[in-house]
Amino acid sequence: MRVVSGIQPTGKPHLGNYLGAIRNYVKLQDEAQAAGGTCCIFLADLHAISLPHDPAELHSATLEMVATLVACGLDPAKTVLFNQAQVPAHAELQWLLMGTARMGWLNRMTQWKDKAGKNREGQSVALFGYPVLQAADVLLYQATHVPVGEDQKQHLELARDIAQKFNNDFASDEKPVFTLPDPFIPESAARIMSLRDGSKKMSKSDPSDMSRISLTDDADTMAQKVKKAKTDPEPLPGEVAGLEGRPEALNLVTIYAALGETTPEAVLAEHGGQGFGQFKPALAEKLVEVLAPIRNRFVELNDDREELDAILARGAAQAREMGRPTLDAAYTALGLVRG
Ligand code: TRP
Repeated sequence: MRVVSGIQPTGKPHLGNYLGAIRNYVKLQDEAQAAGGTCCIFLADLHAISLPHDPAELHSATLEMVATLVACGLDPAKTVLFNQAQVPAHAELQWLLMGTARMGWLNRMTQWKDKAGKNREGQSVALFGYPVLQAADVLLYQATHVPVGEDQKQHLELARDIAQKFNNDFASDEKPVFTLPDPFIPESAARIMSLRDGSKKMSKSDPSDMSRISLTDDADTMAQKVKKAKTDPEPLPGEVAGLEGRPEALNLVTIYAALGETTPEAVLAEHGGQGFGQFKPALAEKLVEVLAPIRNRFVELNDDREELDAILARGAAQAREMGRPTLDAAYTALGLVRG
């Protein structure tokens, strides 16, 4: 079992990142260890330059994201934790895969279409080639499990297509260069929506800070955001079916359930019939209970530049070792001469 996943170091990490992705990494790190496998989690800093960005912000966001991951329970002694920029094999393998990926495949990527909008001609080549770098990220380590959200499934299918075509074109059936990776959408990954609009995902790019709980918010700020969260005038139903057509109510129940590692059914069995005047303070209390320890660890670690640098340096050294055989095999398969 080899788990590989990346997270973009843009913006402040929020509750949606934690309940949707980060907490699953922590579970998978332990599962991988129990199965004698490895878990690699990296900061996708190379991906971050595909859109206009501020270098100083990228730098500090990368370090902040490392501090966040560790504060959330990723253990650098159990997980290979690093940033792409310190492992040149990611960029090298991307280039090698550029010969295999087809323009038509990339043109069909919905994320490319969404991000480029009507202005395709004005986008960076990196935005178009983004999925090829993502394929390199996972193929480099012979990943078997790639935990991602629904929105990344198409990129993973592309990674499979690239691996398959490369193996077909340049390797023998007995000795394929790449393992075909599987997207792995953990059941426990919660889809957390904006506190201002239950139909939109909680997002770091939402202009309203009230739409999301940041992992660095203090207890008062969290309580304030929950209090101001959009709801409807009805009390909570006794069963999940009663949340239909009430996206904001559903979202708050989902958050409560995810924080307590239980189900919306169980939350409604306990809180059904309550109005939001009663339920919101309970939710705020739960948030603080789960997030305050994370915030405390984050604040401590984020100040310790030396420790953060050391974590990344160690992780990158391990990742370079792990990726070497596959990168070498890819160069050789392509007939490239390297001293
Ligand atoms: N594109 C992913 C995202 O935006 C991040 C990512 C980069 C990734 N490389 C990856 C995820 C490799 C899984 C595997 O969420």
